[in-house]
Amino acid sequence: MDDDSKKMLDVISKHIIQQLPRGIFLSVGGDTPNTMTIGWGSLGNYWGCSVFTAPIRKQRFTYPLLLKEKSFILSVPDNDMARELVLAGTLSGRDGNKFERIGLETKPGRVVNAPAITAAKWQVECVVRAETDMLYDRTDRAIAEKMYAAGDFHTLFMAEIVACYQKDGVSAPEQSGAAQRTCLRE
Ligand SMILES: Cc1cc2nc3c(=O)[nH]c(=O)nc-3n(C[C@H](O)[C@H](O)[C@H](O)COP(=O)(O)O)c2cc1C
Repeated sequence: MDDDSKKMLDVISKHIIQQLPRGIFLSVGGDTPNTMTIGWGSLGNYWGCSVFTAPIRKQRFTYPLLLKEKSFILSVPDNDMARELVLAGTLSGRDGNKFERIGLETKPGRVVNAPAITAAKWQVECVVRAETDMLYDRTDRAIAEKMYAAGDFHTLFMAEIVACYQKDGVSAPEQSGAAQRTCLRE
């Protein structure tokens, strides 16, 4: 992550946490690009990297796309896209192109191969570095029964943040090819 991205992440990290309950778009590229709303997640530090962890249930159309693509873009609105967040969180990409159905314009990510939703104020580009399944017998019983009654436990996608920028902000330096490692240095 370049210095501009680090500064921007510092500025918006509190907003990301505050925005999550209202919804953030998580978009994946590939043959069938898609977006979905997430309301849970965490921002943290692993392996010397800034990491966003996204909990995704296996029945989401997005789930196999993430397994394959190993990258995504979080498009973080400034509390102004409630309608689009509800639609992205109720329609499924398996029924057709969700960007077109909702009317969401996109542009390619700067670092990862995924679409960025242009109407959202901030973009956070992420590369999945680890995936882990939540397990019934390793989860608080009350939470398991309330949140996962159907046994539909989340998979946690732990993703290094490789770029973070504002919609009309100064461009971060372009990186060529696939997302380059920006942490995990010895
Ligand atoms: C506010 C809100 C928050 C949501 N948070 C999550 C989440 O954190 N993880 C998840 O798997 N689904 C979450 N969902 C549900 C998905 O967004 C929804 O099932 C969506 O239709 C999946 O789209 P897809 O089938 O195209 O992947 C949320 C929905 C809403 C409305």
